[in-house]
Amino acid sequence: MKEVLQNPDYDIFIDDSLKYLNDFLENKKDHYSKYYILVDENTHTTCIPKLLSNVSLLQNAEILEIDAGEENKNLIIANGLWEALLENNANRKTLIINLGGGLVSDLGGFVASTFKRGIPFINVPTTLLAQTDAAIGSKTAVNLGHAKNQIGTFAHPEAIFISIDFISSLPERDKNSAFGEILKYALIADEKLWEILKNQELDEITDYEMIVTECAKIKNDIVTQDPKEKGIRKILNFGHTVGHAFESFSMNPHNRQLYHGEAIALGMIVEMYISSKILNFNNSLREEIQQYILDNFRIFSIEEKDFPQLIDFMRKDKKNTDSNISFVLISEIGKAHINQNIDEGLILEALKYYSEL
Ligand SMILES: NC(=O)c1ccc[n+]([C@@H]2O[C@H](COP(=O)([O-])OP(=O)(O)OC[C@H]3O[C@@H](n4cnc5c(N)ncnc54)[C@H](O)[C@@H]3O)[C@@H](O)[C@H]2O)c1
Repeated sequence: MKEVLQNPDYDIFIDDSLKYLNDFLENKKDHYSKYYILVDENTHTTCIPKLLSNVSLLQNAEILEIDAGEENKNLIIANGLWEALLENNANRKTLIINLGGGLVSDLGGFVASTFKRGIPFINVPTTLLAQTDAAIGSKTAVNLGHAKNQIGTFAHPEAIFISIDFISSLPERDKNSAFGEILKYALIADEKLWEILKNQELDEITDYEMIVTECAKIKNDIVTQDPKEKGIRKILNFGHTVGHAFESFSMNPHNRQLYHGEAIALGMIVEMYISSKILNFNNSLREEIQQYILDNFRIFSIEEKDFPQLIDFMRKDKKNTDSNISFVLISEIGKAHINQNIDEGLILEALKYYSEL
């Protein structure tokens, strides 16, 4: 299987053998003087061997390793990476290869795009979530405290190389979590994908190639139309106003930490409820999708005393333009509506509904 998705600024190669990456680097030998591979502790052990055995030019690359986990997507870790690059005299001919999930591509893209005002990087996503979503679309970011993605850049990678094979070593919970974002794509843009999802148990799904290609196409199509998120790109944030608030809230050491895709799936329960109230999203369809989410993602329990902190996280969401909290809502599958400012009263009602499930 081979597929190349075009984007005006970079190409996305889907190819199990990493052959495209090898060819790309061979063809650009004169462009780059040195290669760095950014990994986390897990992709260091599980993904480096495959990369090095397929891409001969990377045999002598320097490896930069960070600890795994969302709590490491921060400015302190970024600072350590900038210092390592400086000590090694990295320059604008240095290429950084981000080999990992969304943590590595968000952080590595951020570090590369800010070091010396920008050095080149490529993404080699190794999680289902990064292959379908995080590595595509040129958003880089780190968190600020527990607030998600507050510091970041829009920066294009030189290219993205997706190898489905990497998914085979992914822990089940990480694989499942990606279905939060995959379900989001179905609900905002692809009714056929919803039909496929609802008719299978998550652990029965094996055709990752089809799912990754479908989702990568949807994301690439949307971000190509609106690279800086002025309009249509915002639809990709369905589930994220509440999802990011849940994710941030869960970073408190007293809570069970949610994975990103899990938070988005649960966030969509709340945002579908608001969609039904504001845009008449069909209630029986909403309940069917809600049941699908409850069957596949463990509920994250919240109580009324938690609502103020959740609302506070929602107020920090980047989509807000004034004191209102802005949502993406759906009126039907495939019809998303951006810039929906919702009264706090209705948000609280929706959180209460969720807390009683
Ligand atoms: N920039 C964007 O557009 C965008 C979009 C969606 C999500 N994100 C971000 O992506 C992050 C979540 O990404 P994620 O779910 O990939 O998390 P992650 O990068 O933390 O990876 C999840 C876990 O899987 C491990 N891992 C990665 N690849 C592996 C492999 N092939 N085999 C075994 N283990 C492997 C990692 O070490 C980690 O423990 C969040 O920070 C989120 O905010 C960014």
